[in-house]
Amino acid sequence: MNKLIVSLLLTLGITGVAHAAGDAAAGQAKAAVCGACHGPDGNSMAPNFPKLAGQGERYLNKQLHDIKSGKRQVLEMTGLLTNLSDQDMADIAAYFASQKGSVGAADPKVVARGEELFRGGKLDQGMPACTGCHSPSGTGNAAAGFPHLGGQHAQYVVKQLTDFREGNRTNDGDTMIMRSIAAKLSNKDIEAVSSYIQGLH
Ligand code: HEC
Ligand code: HEC
Repeated sequence: MNKLIVSLLLTLGITGVAHAAGDAAAGQAKAAVCGACHGPDGNSMAPNFPKLAGQGERYLNKQLHDIKSGKRQVLEMTGLLTNLSDQDMADIAAYFASQKGSVGAADPKVVARGEELFRGGKLDQGMPACTGCHSPSGTGNAAAGFPHLGGQHAQYVVKQLTDFREGNRTNDGDTMIMRSIAAKLSNKDIEAVSSYIQGLH
């Protein structure tokens, strides 16, 4: 089933248009300003700033376009992308994608519930497992633009899932894939699966 979803999304082209190929070496210098929040190599220290290291290039590039256009609102980045060209953003995406992501730890109290949700979904409610798109190891699917999740800060993941559920993040395409999944998650579910993701590698 999950293979089917992936090929459907690809056919529908919801994962975004093809962008210029990035040059990681050129991207490193252009990414200097980003390091203050995201860490020089993309491994941010603060849990509300997402790690970008090892994230898929295609996903990163799409987020940069979405943030620049205002389709995804990130107040902290207001004005930062205004003067970047498509090539600059592709280079920066290639740079962070080439870095090695660090991993955190899961909270032992909720890890079992988190794993159950991540690997099994909520079948009674028609919610698919996260593994179908984000892969069993949490690495995602770089070619399809499905983001790498493993090792991401739990606090950031909690905010994204809540934003998808409340309709505050809406850049997941016309199929509303993450909005419909998050709609099935309680606050407790979100906490558990996010903690599990933080320790996943
Ligand atoms: C002042 C802090 C700050 C700076 C500087 C900053 N960012 Fe961000 N960035 C954020 C925050 C906060 C978020 C997450 C917002 C949210 O919760 O949705 C974010 C999100 C992102 C995302 C989405 C990540 C994901 O997993 O979806 C990308 C990509 C990104 N930033 C790239 C950049 C790049 C490239 C630069 C430099 C040109 C940059 N940022 C500079 C704070 C910052
Ligand atoms: C059918 C495919 C699919 C399934 C199943 C799926 N996701 Fe996603 N997810 C996506 C796509 C595609 C995006 C990127 C949306 C975009 O382009 O902004 C995404 C984005 C995310 C993000 C934002 C990542 C970031 O760095 O900001 C999180 C967190 C996330 N998913 C968690 C989950 C969890 C937890 C589950 C299971 C409960 C799940 N996803 C199931 C396709 C899926």
